[in-house]
Amino acid sequence: MQKPQLLEFINRMLPDSVAIVPSANEATRSNDTHYRFRQDSDLFYLTGFEEPESVAVFTNVKDRPEYTLFVRPRDPEREIWDGRRAGVEGAVNSFGAVEAFPIAELNKKLPDLLSGARSLYYRLPSSKPELDDSVLNQISQLRAGIRRGVAAPESIVDPAGIIHELRLIKSQEEIRIMQQAADIAAAAHVEAMKAVRPGMMEYELEALIEFNFRKSGASAPAYSSIVGGGANATVLHYVNNDDTLRDGDLVLVDAGAEYKGYASDITRTFPVNGRFSEAQREIYELVLETQVSCVNMAQPGVTMEELKSHSIRMLTEGMVRLGLLKGETEELITREKYKQFYMHGLGHYLGMDVHDVGRYQIDGQPRKLEPGMVITVEPGVYIAPGTKDIPEKYLGIGVRIEDDVLITEGGRNVLSSKVPKAIDEIESLMKSR
Ligand code: GLY
Ligand code: MN
Ligand code: MN
Repeated sequence: MQKPQLLEFINRMLPDSVAIVPSANEATRSNDTHYRFRQDSDLFYLTGFEEPESVAVFTNVKDRPEYTLFVRPRDPEREIWDGRRAGVEGAVNSFGAVEAFPIAELNKKLPDLLSGARSLYYRLPSSKPELDDSVLNQISQLRAGIRRGVAAPESIVDPAGIIHELRLIKSQEEIRIMQQAADIAAAAHVEAMKAVRPGMMEYELEALIEFNFRKSGASAPAYSSIVGGGANATVLHYVNNDDTLRDGDLVLVDAGAEYKGYASDITRTFPVNGRFSEAQREIYELVLETQVSCVNMAQPGVTMEELKSHSIRMLTEGMVRLGLLKGETEELITREKYKQFYMHGLGHYLGMDVHDVGRYQIDGQPRKLEPGMVITVEPGVYIAPGTKDIPEKYLGIGVRIEDDVLITEGGRNVLSSKVPKAIDEIESLMKSR
């Protein structure tokens, strides 16, 4: 079956052009063992093909939309070791390629595929230096033959310009899958809230969350899960998750599932013993108030910049109120003093990649949100231990709240709403355990 976005891509290509999109490479974990293969998001988006050592060629020459896949051929011996391959037959029958060939024949076919194309869509450099060499070699050979009437492409264009803009606006089918990715992650966060106890290790909670991802059919976490208890929550990229969860501390869990190629990205922060302390509550309420306000502001026409500025203003005002910062709000914002406690962006596009593709600026101006975009909204406040001149009760508290938000015609739809974030909801869920 051909994916609808494939036709859309070919339609947006320049007339008389060819696009070459390679697979991802297998990544070595150590010595001769590999990480589980994950397909290049662009190739997966266009074709659904999930095997390594493959290349898709899309031609739009003289009104002939065509799609050719070069793949690993069937090989009973190798398939015993590495698993089933679609082969050239499967590439045609299951993935809608008009033609398919063994990957070893790509070089031989390139002259035919490229000749007559006025533009070539190819991302240079690609992840495959040997493919770059072959493509460039073909182009110079075509140029050398120009006097014999052979045409070489006049331009080489990065196909990401088209593909990433298509990927940014999600179709109904993509939204359905992203809702499932969010539901799976939300259910795992709820299980984590129910299971956490003082004395547990952070990695036990990580394992429970990732068990729930896999149990629900997710292929993997969409990124390394963060489970940070106490002051570990103030380390933004804390992924070791090997500390004890202590009575009286909060735990920050940033974990999202990848489902059918699409990511969810959810953060919740909750008390290890089920009850927020006064100080934790004060920081949490500030982050929550800001997060809810930014979510409610997200709608067509608003820019990510505006959301970020709004979060900076609310958090800075709160930091002054709580005694984390001293001075005039305006000046603290201008001098970026809030960055001591809020040092990351408000959010990002979400899709096949957790930090998804698509331009944030158009002609140097912040881009407006549009229906079909999915963003995260994830303000946080992080108070490192040892911070000077602030109320001691706040030291070592880190809070982030992150939701996945689909922009709709009428406003927004929070895909990750099935996991609670209000203090009373979290406490009552944790009490019922
Ligand atoms: N977990 C990655 C992020 O929140 O952006
Ligand atoms: Mn995020
Ligand atoms: Mn996250």
